[in-house]
Amino acid sequence: MTGPTGPVGPGADRLLGAEADGEEQAIEAALRPKDLGEFVGQERVREQLDLVLRAARQRGATADHVLLSGAPGLGKTTLSMIIAAEMGAPIRITSGPAIQHAGDLAAILSSLTEGEVLFLDEIHRMSRPAEEMLYMAMEDFRVDVIVGKGPGATAIPLELPPFTLVGATTRAGLLPPPLRDRFGFTGHMEFYGAPELERVIHRSARLLDVEIDAEGAIEIAGRSRGTPRIANRLLRRVRDYAQVKADGVITQEIASRALAVYDVDGRGLDRLDRAVLTALLKLFGGGPVGLSTLAVAVGEERETVEEVAEPFLVREGLLARTPRGRVGTPAAWAHLGLTPPQGTGSGGVQSGLFDG
Ligand SMILES: Nc1ncnc2c1ncn2[C@@H]1O[C@H](COP(=O)(O)OP(=O)(O)O)[C@@H](O)[C@H]1O
Ligand SMILES: [Mg+2]
Repeated sequence: MTGPTGPVGPGADRLLGAEADGEEQAIEAALRPKDLGEFVGQERVREQLDLVLRAARQRGATADHVLLSGAPGLGKTTLSMIIAAEMGAPIRITSGPAIQHAGDLAAILSSLTEGEVLFLDEIHRMSRPAEEMLYMAMEDFRVDVIVGKGPGATAIPLELPPFTLVGATTRAGLLPPPLRDRFGFTGHMEFYGAPELERVIHRSARLLDVEIDAEGAIEIAGRSRGTPRIANRLLRRVRDYAQVKADGVITQEIASRALAVYDVDGRGLDRLDRAVLTALLKLFGGGPVGLSTLAVAVGEERETVEEVAEPFLVREGLLARTPRGRVGTPAAWAHLGLTPPQGTGSGGVQSGLFDG
């Protein structure tokens, strides 16, 4: 398998990063649910996909092309493998960035067997010429292979066996509409709720042969940012702690102590997240403050603050991006146990509305 290597952007090696590096991908493979029944949560996507696959199987046909969109670590790669397994089909795995030229794609497409699943990860990062080749392949199961260069180049049409394209993207909005339209089914993956993450954790603990009680799983789930990949990662770190510092059993107390060691707080914020919030509240009175100023204050690159820390802080309602700059919300003051200044500032705006 030519697995896609995780992106190496800012913060890619973070304990709470949602991306997986090469080593982690091997560990994850062991924890992947193998069929739809084992796949936790995502009820809507699961139910819809189940219908699509069942119907195709009944017709003895190849399943429609499937697009999976959602944040990293929510189970897109896992689902693509489940689709192949449910269809009893082999799967070929590649990614947008791995396809530099249309010729790379042509080579892959022309070697597919009937009914095979082609998983194209990070499909929004494919090159334009490859994308155009893909349109035709998806719709007509045909590609034009260009032989030669310049005025002497000729297009040789090549028939393809019917196949199922499963595209995955973290940025559905970046896909050109003609590409999006060629998928028969789009599944939007949501962040997971605590009960689902607890089920993921219990399931993984069983597979890893780790003992964990209900409260231990609740503790880890609450800090996993709605993301199974992070839940599994925290579970492995807590397991280490339980093994070295205790009797190996994960309880609430052990989980909480372990995650404190790893700098993951009760809400799933790490040191960088808290540094950003603390600077915003303590140095700038809750804002608004510009991104660059905030980045300098925490000694990080702009990109790191914007792409690594902020998305989760925004999602949690702790930080707001406004036209005038970054603002800490009342929830941020509460989370850090600080008192917002009286009068102006983010905390005072709302209450002012009710003052007269
Ligand atoms: N619904 C789920 N149930 C159980 N485990 C899951 C689920 N979704 C993801 N995981 C686990 O989380 C990890 C990351 O999933 P993956 O499919 O690689 O995410 P993505 O491709 O969206 O980044 C895998 O180890 C997988 O086992
Ligand atoms: Mg993936």
